[in-house]
Amino acid sequence: MSLVNQTPQWQALQQHWDALQAARIQDLFAAEPKRAESMRLSAAGLQLDYSKNLVTQETLSLLLALAEAVDLKGWTRRMFDGEPINNTEGRAVLHIALRNRSNRPIQVNGEDVMPLVNGVLGRMEQFVDRVRSGDWRGHTGRRIADVVNIGIGGSNLGPKMVCAALAPYQRDDLRVHFVSNVDGTHLVETVQRLDPETTLFIVASKTFTTQETMTNATSARDWLLAALGDPAAVAHHFVAVSTSAEKVAAFGIDTANMFGFWDWVGGRYSLWSAIGLPIALAVGFDRFVELLEGAHAMDEHFRTADLSENMPALLGLIGVWYANFAGARTHAVLPYDQSLRYLPAYLQQGDMESNGKGVTREGVAVDYSTGPVVWGEAGTDGQHAFYQLIHQGTQTIPADFIGAIRSHNELGDHHPKFMANFFAQTEALMRGRTFEEALAEQRAAGLPEEQAQWLAHHRTFPGNRPTNSILMERLTPRTLGALIALYEHRIFTQGVIWGVNSFDQWGVELGKQLASVILDEIQSGKVTADHDPSTRALLEHFIRQRRG
Ligand code: F6P
Repeated sequence: MSLVNQTPQWQALQQHWDALQAARIQDLFAAEPKRAESMRLSAAGLQLDYSKNLVTQETLSLLLALAEAVDLKGWTRRMFDGEPINNTEGRAVLHIALRNRSNRPIQVNGEDVMPLVNGVLGRMEQFVDRVRSGDWRGHTGRRIADVVNIGIGGSNLGPKMVCAALAPYQRDDLRVHFVSNVDGTHLVETVQRLDPETTLFIVASKTFTTQETMTNATSARDWLLAALGDPAAVAHHFVAVSTSAEKVAAFGIDTANMFGFWDWVGGRYSLWSAIGLPIALAVGFDRFVELLEGAHAMDEHFRTADLSENMPALLGLIGVWYANFAGARTHAVLPYDQSLRYLPAYLQQGDMESNGKGVTREGVAVDYSTGPVVWGEAGTDGQHAFYQLIHQGTQTIPADFIGAIRSHNELGDHHPKFMANFFAQTEALMRGRTFEEALAEQRAAGLPEEQAQWLAHHRTFPGNRPTNSILMERLTPRTLGALIALYEHRIFTQGVIWGVNSFDQWGVELGKQLASVILDEIQSGKVTADHDPSTRALLEHFIRQRRG
């Protein structure tokens, strides 16, 4: 199969870019009087305005033709039908089944997975109700006040992001904490203020082999046993979320207290599974179901809407336009919602682990850009940090602005001020300020001509910086579910265009393998493996200094 950049649809886009690149987004509004309305879309409680992009109706038609050429609709159907589209691991990709609230049967190898999904959801509900009602007690009979989720990557970032996002729905008497890093500081600083008698640990690991998680879980168990003495306490204070019952049992957690999921759930797509247990504990099972419902609504939109009106597909295609034709290397996610402060970090794994690939599904090296660097920060903090570069730096950084009409904390005029910044930034990024405008301002301020000219260069903004605006009525479990699913399908769309497998992550393996060799060397004090001179010298220094 030829690479996507060899297709006539790609070539047509290249030619179109050559013609359009000098255009100004602002002028496109004048050329298309209905642009603001026609480039606005609503789905699953979210509204998207994509009119502030350097795209015309022709660009969109060409991008849609590219989507057709790579059979985006066909790949979408294959994913939703449970076909093994994760070809390097021979697995289906069915996070959509986890939130399939219609219960439509979804077959994997001839078996409907919905009874499995519903079975685990049922067990989660019972457990969550027991903990939240105080029926589940710690070893000494006290009710649980703190839950510590131990997991990393997909077994951490999703639940952590969602718990922060849904803080307004949480109770004060059941706090949820997250420990991910194998740096002992993370665990120590988390548990030091907790009472072992009232703490419940969730050990969350798809594989139950991840070094960071198993090390933290072992130390957490030691901490508990040091305080409570009795090994029988583990059963009251540890539960597990994993695909491997065998390994959970080997660790010493009763499999009666294990919540399963399946190899067709990718780690970075797993917050909808039992990996979402901390979310359900934090906000209650009914709210967790609302999160699933929001995602399901977006799934149905993605699955059924025509590509020309398909929010995730259009976002994905516009992203391809910038990554592959405009030369953008990064993509900024800018939530104007403090509760969404972990969304950029969550999407870094979601996007970069999915589409940070250099070969196609067939193993052919690509000679075009694939996944961009994803980054961001909640507004307005970002404005006072890196927006300078977005406004006046030398690269194009497409950005998504995400905000709500109403805040959960309507404090005085905070929210109007906050959102005024959202709208002002998207407008300023598009409009910029010409040299002439800047000069006129300086002259009006009474500056001598030479100084006015000089300063005007510094105060000129090129503008034409593209943004998407995503608005919701309020950040609720439902709108959050839809928002996350929107990004998941955007990632999927881009993976299909680039022809990569978005669902494996071989790139994290090499470092892991080398780390295990080096750990043996550090522990034995002897550097024996065939290292490069720099690594060897660093290791010897580290070992010497720790001995000293
Ligand atoms: O970072 C690599 C990775 O395999 C991720 O894909 C995954 O989310 C994370 O490690 C944690 O894996 P596990 O849930 O198996 O502990």
